Amino acid sequence: MHSTELPLAFLILMFSNTSENCMSRLHITAVEGEPFYLKYCRSSSEHKNEKNTRWCYQPNGSLEQIELNPSNSPRIAFHEYALEFWPVELSDSGSYFLKMGNDTHEWKLNVIRRNKHNCFTEKQVNTRTVEVKKHLMIKCETPYYRKLINKTSLYKNCEQIEIRGNTFEKNAEFEDQGYYTCVFSLHYNGKLFNVTKTFNVTIAGDYNSITPVLLGPKFNQIEVELGKSEQLNCSALLNKDDTVYWNFRKENETDHNLHEEQEIKIKTSEGKWHASRILRIENINENNLNFLYNCTLASKGGTDVRVFILVRKGIITGVPRLYKCTHLGPCIYMEEALKSVNLVWSMTLPGLPSDYLLSATTALSDGCRTVLSVHRSFCPDHFPVLYSQIEC
Ligand SMILES: *[C@@H]1O[C@H](CO)[C@@H](O)[C@H](O)[C@H]1NC(C)=O
Ligand SMILES: *[C@@H]1O[C@H](CO)[C@@H](O)[C@H](O)[C@H]1NC(C)=O
Ligand SMILES: *[C@@H]1O[C@H](CO)[C@@H](O)[C@H](O)[C@H]1NC(C)=O
Ligand SMILES: *[C@@H]1O[C@H](CO)[C@@H](O)[C@H](O)[C@H]1NC(C)=O
Ligand SMILES: *[C@@H]1O[C@H](CO)[C@@H](O)[C@H](O)[C@H]1NC(C)=O
Ligand SMILES: *[C@@H]1O[C@H](CO)[C@@H](O)[C@H](O)[C@H]1NC(C)=O
Ligand SMILES: *[C@@H]1O[C@H](CO)[C@@H](O)[C@H](O)[C@H]1NC(C)=O
Ligand SMILES: *[C@@H]1O[C@H](CO)[C@@H](O)[C@H](O)[C@H]1NC(C)=O
Repeated sequence: MHSTELPLAFLILMFSNTSENCMSRLHITAVEGEPFYLKYCRSSSEHKNEKNTRWCYQPNGSLEQIELNPSNSPRIAFHEYALEFWPVELSDSGSYFLKMGNDTHEWKLNVIRRNKHNCFTEKQVNTRTVEVKKHLMIKCETPYYRKLINKTSLYKNCEQIEIRGNTFEKNAEFEDQGYYTCVFSLHYNGKLFNVTKTFNVTIAGDYNSITPVLLGPKFNQIEVELGKSEQLNCSALLNKDDTVYWNFRKENETDHNLHEEQEIKIKTSEGKWHASRILRIENINENNLNFLYNCTLASKGGTDVRVFILVRKGIITGVPRLYKCTHLGPCIYMEEALKSVNLVWSMTLPGLPSDYLLSATTALSDGCRTVLSVHRSFCPDHFPVLYSQIEC
């Protein structure tokens, strides 16, 4: 006896209402301990003749087919071209055949072990991706068992959550990511069974918006000569409506040699926005030195800042002014350098204004980098400390 391939026209009809919840796939996976069924996809043109059908089972590795008979196995039932398991067990793995006259339909059933430490089985999850802020809906439905359902519960990462009727819905937030398990409790022949259905829900970011970021280091120290000009260039990757600007004004003062240029925004070939904005400082004077010029990125998601400071060329040569380290090795080196900076400070930095704030932070960890820079103090006692910035 051999299984016959179903003609294409037959498959097209497989979801006609005469064969709701049927399965035409050859390979089927089930989880041990749960009610399960195999149902033949009958076409509407086939006349109902269930009496002429036989169910056969061929265990894994066996050559022999056994005709199934519900009166011999209490876990098995026949119901409208369906073979039901109450419940299915590991030993039920194998091939199943539904024979109708000369036609045979085959399924290969693989029953997998239940994860006893979890409310769901990882191998049997449906994946779902929902964009953040979009509608997240989990509908707990199992049409085949509809009439037998006594109770429907929903668990998120195995903790029960409330549902209305059989539906859980909200606007998706990142915290909503997780495993959602519907548990349908069924009464059958006086026994309680649970059928589970799990969704692996991933919350994806808004595809149209990026996390805007200013490019380049957080602190920028630029050596300048008095009387010369300098352009500070601030650039960012951002969204269309985000903006970049400079903070350069001093309280009660106007610097006539500072010019903030227009923001230049371009769309890259990948459809991303790129912006840059220049702060031009002409005929640099003492007032422009050691002042924090900040470039700010303003977006819906918050702000980002890059700090630029002009220092006189040569004034602090020989001293590690701006350290950057991106991994632990150089950071350790930097800590040592820091000590030596403190040591060198009073002797070799006579030109440095006394109102520099220096503070040393040595809390470094993997994945963090340290930017060390010397900059002006707003500290009343003008105590010189080295300033270090940790970026992670
Ligand atoms: C049944 O056989 C298939 C293919 O040989 C194998 O992948 C599967 O693990 C077997 N299942 C059991 C329960 O032995
Ligand atoms: C079943 O097959 C036999 C022999 O192969 C054939 O004589 C018979 O007509 C077939 N019956 C149907 C319903 O196709
Ligand atoms: C669930 O989805 C996440 C992200 O899409 C994936 O990394 C994970 O492997 C999935 N889990 C299972 C059990 O399939
Ligand atoms: C569920 O079963 C309990 C008894 O186990 C019964 O009291 C209750 O009415 C049932 N509920 C539904 C909705 O069938
Ligand atoms: C079925 O699920 C309910 C929770 O919905 C649980 O309390 C009960 O222990 C489960 N029963 C079985 C037999 O797994
Ligand atoms: C500023 O920097 C951006 C990005 O590095 C660059 O595209 C732009 O041409 C620069 N502007 C000037 C005037 O140099
Ligand atoms: C730039 O930012 C620093 C803090 O990061 C602040 O102390 C300073 O006043 C800012 N400069 C301007 C011009 O706003
Ligand atoms: C700026 O001017 C205002 C009013 O003219 C004054 O109250 C304030 O103290 C001044 N600030 C500084 C830093 O000079």
